[in-house]
Amino acid sequence: MNEEKRKPTMEDILELSGIDLLHPGGFDITKRIGEIVEMRGKKVLDVACGRGSLPCYYAKSFRAKIFGVDLNPEMIESSVEKARREDVENLTEFKVADALTLPFKDNSFDVVINECAVGLTSDPQKCLNEMARVTKTGGDIVIHESAWLKEISKEEKVDIAGRLGTVPYTLSEWKEMMEKAGLMHLWTEDWSGLENIYKIRYDRKMKNLNDMFSLWEKIAIIFPRVISKYGIKGIFHAYNSAQRINPLYSDETLGYFLIRGQKSL
Ligand SMILES: C[S@@+](CC[C@H](N)C(=O)[O-])C[C@H]1O[C@@H](n2cnc3c(N)ncnc32)[C@H](O)[C@@H]1O
Repeated sequence: MNEEKRKPTMEDILELSGIDLLHPGGFDITKRIGEIVEMRGKKVLDVACGRGSLPCYYAKSFRAKIFGVDLNPEMIESSVEKARREDVENLTEFKVADALTLPFKDNSFDVVINECAVGLTSDPQKCLNEMARVTKTGGDIVIHESAWLKEISKEEKVDIAGRLGTVPYTLSEWKEMMEKAGLMHLWTEDWSGLENIYKIRYDRKMKNLNDMFSLWEKIAIIFPRVISKYGIKGIFHAYNSAQRINPLYSDETLGYFLIRGQKSL
């Protein structure tokens, strides 16, 4: 285990916790995507699909044909299992793949989505370029990502990105990258605010960010998994990161945005 791996990011903790939806906005933002791209019956790619909750939701709610890819084989196993349990195997297909080298031909999909996972790749611009490459001309690309609302120092940005496990940009920077990937008609919607962060736990009521996990979940699930992977220091690092990061959402330093573009003709 290298030094880096002894310091879990917030993203690592969320993934280790086993919760099935890993983005602010919860199913509300996912539903919104289905509506704005008029997803019914379309061929859709969900890049970094996590545990398959979103592809299964799109398949059930919009009868779309959904392909999901994720770098982590465990996420893909969970996705296949979820599709089987939710009886949408005929509308879903899952594959282990890197968002930076998507295993699909150019112009393959009507809609390509990435929910909360462009900023955590090693090259967000390349990720957007790949998403654009596999989208049909005139097709939709939708992402949602963390964005800086206030200017802070470069050192602080680097520290916070390292603790989060994803790199936030300003909304202008996100839009610039989308344009560089060949997307036009950019459209954004503001999903900032603690009430949207709380929706990650759509299954329980949160009053503050420390409620993300119940005491029972912390003791029975998170602590043992974090300790076994990162050692006891991992718990302290995660605690310190939460103390550093949580206020950034309430004081509106960090926001969250839905961004849609269309592949230019
Ligand atoms: C924040 S979670 C989002 C998962 C899902 N989209 C959701 O919103 O619930 C990030 C996901 O990105 C995946 N991931 C990280 N790097 C990736 C890459 N380079 N290619 C594909 N998936 C990646 C992780 O395995 C994880 O499932």
